[in-house]
Amino acid sequence: MWTRLWLFLCLISVLVVPHCGFRADATIGVIFNEISWQSLLPLRNALKKQNMVDQALVRFSTDIQQVSASDSFNVSKTVCDLIGRRNGVAAIISVQGSETSPIQESICFNSELPFISMSWGPTQVNNISMSLNFYPEAKLFAKGLLEVVKALRWNSFVILYETEEGLIRMQEILKLQEFHRGKRNSILVKQLGPGPDHRTLLKEIRNASEYFILDCKTENIIPILLQAKDLRMLELHNNYFLTSLDAHTLDYSILKTTANITTIRLFDPNRQEFQNVLKRWLLSDNENENENTIDLPPNAVLTETVLLYDAFTHVMECIKSLAATSSVETNPISCEEKSKSKNGFALYNFCRVKKPEKTLTGAVKFDEFGNRVHFKIDVVDVDTPTATLGSWHSHNESMMLYRGENETFDASVANLQKIKVIVSSRY
Ligand SMILES: *[C@@H]1O[C@H](CO)[C@@H](O)[C@H](O)[C@H]1NC(C)=O
Ligand SMILES: *[C@@H]1O[C@H](CO)[C@@H](O)[C@H](O)[C@H]1NC(C)=O
Ligand SMILES: *[C@@H]1O[C@H](CO)[C@@H](O)[C@H](O)[C@H]1NC(C)=O
Ligand SMILES: *[C@@H]1O[C@H](CO)[C@@H](O)[C@H](O)[C@H]1NC(C)=O
Ligand SMILES: *[C@@H]1O[C@H](CO)[C@@H](O)[C@H](O)[C@H]1NC(C)=O
Ligand SMILES: *[C@@H]1O[C@H](CO)[C@@H](O)[C@H](O)[C@H]1NC(C)=O
Repeated sequence: MWTRLWLFLCLISVLVVPHCGFRADATIGVIFNEISWQSLLPLRNALKKQNMVDQALVRFSTDIQQVSASDSFNVSKTVCDLIGRRNGVAAIISVQGSETSPIQESICFNSELPFISMSWGPTQVNNISMSLNFYPEAKLFAKGLLEVVKALRWNSFVILYETEEGLIRMQEILKLQEFHRGKRNSILVKQLGPGPDHRTLLKEIRNASEYFILDCKTENIIPILLQAKDLRMLELHNNYFLTSLDAHTLDYSILKTTANITTIRLFDPNRQEFQNVLKRWLLSDNENENENTIDLPPNAVLTETVLLYDAFTHVMECIKSLAATSSVETNPISCEEKSKSKNGFALYNFCRVKKPEKTLTGAVKFDEFGNRVHFKIDVVDVDTPTATLGSWHSHNESMMLYRGENETFDASVANLQKIKVIVSSRY
């Protein structure tokens, strides 16, 4: 009876005042190590698009903070200040947080706030987690890299890595060492020094193989390849596999090389759908800063920016869906008093299970610990960036090779095998 009366009153007031009792405000905290114009684009655009909707259930805002990676006091103070504000936050999104994320993550865990990240990190195995990472789960990613090497049909090669993290990414590839059709593969593993001059190391490995896997920071790729060129290690017969997910942002023409250079990516900057989204980002940004039309070429967009877009839209969609049936009210949280978020735990579980839609990085699914177990790794030759040579799908752990008429990915090897088959079947 009372419910009915309330509903009636509410209906009347909806007619008079829109958004009777439905409208909620949700602030999403975003923490950067380094704020860049590029990474603000998807945030601004998604926010604007969301809030433009009339009668929206939730009005969103962001609270953007910068932390100092080398100062853990600064990190914890920034996060505690952010979640302690009067209206509280619904969730925290952490960008480029590799170094600082353990601190941010533990504060979120203790206060039961969803913690969303998008950088490579060790696999989460905690039973009770508050984390969602849009970056591929570490072990599956390492498996994907292995499948790329297998598809390239490399048996003997040199791995050059920069950090411990890089070595972890190589852990599956290293298993190729064990045996290969009864024959032992030879894999040489070397760690790059602090640089910038790596010639001594490159000379050491020059005669070891013609196949190289380079796992290093994106900004070091071209300098290292130029040094390799000096040492005549970037010739026609040389093959490189670059594991950086931002390798698509580099200009390889300055290398003037005939060597085969293979890269991977999580999204395709050449796809029309992506370019349309990018156009919208730039359009809505230029509306703010009248006349100041700034351009961003599709292949200059970092993987992290794209993951940030996927993560941010997902969190907003989750809050919107939840708001239709339950409270998404946020509350201030005190780190000292160890208070907790009222609705954070429910939001986290909802976001972990809900399938993100309209993502720019393909299918997304999380396991029970918040690791991203569905993703796709595209394989691309730097000479033909518009043609994806193959894709490894994590959900069925299988590699699809696209062998178009003009795409000769492992075609020569396949031809050799064909010749062998023909020869042997003659007798
Ligand atoms: C933390 O460091 C960032 C970047 O150096 C700075 O902008 C911010 O004000 C600092 N915050 C606190 C709480 O000290
Ligand atoms: C973790 O969760 C599983 C079920 O999901 C349960 O069987 C196990 O006891 C839990 N472990 C801990 C340490 O809580
Ligand atoms: C590498 O091979 C070249 C040519 O075959 C040879 O001159 C050179 O001494 C070799 N270098 C090493 C380090 O073995
Ligand atoms: C380099 O790649 C091209 C095209 O993918 C292929 O035809 C060629 O055989 C490769 N070269 C080597 C040395 O593997
Ligand atoms: C794996 O999944 C992809 C994408 O969903 C699909 O195109 C492919 O056929 C699947 N491969 C196998 C072997 O099932
Ligand atoms: C493939 O080759 C044909 C003829 O050689 C050419 O017309 C076409 O543009 C090529 N396609 C691509 C994607 O390079």
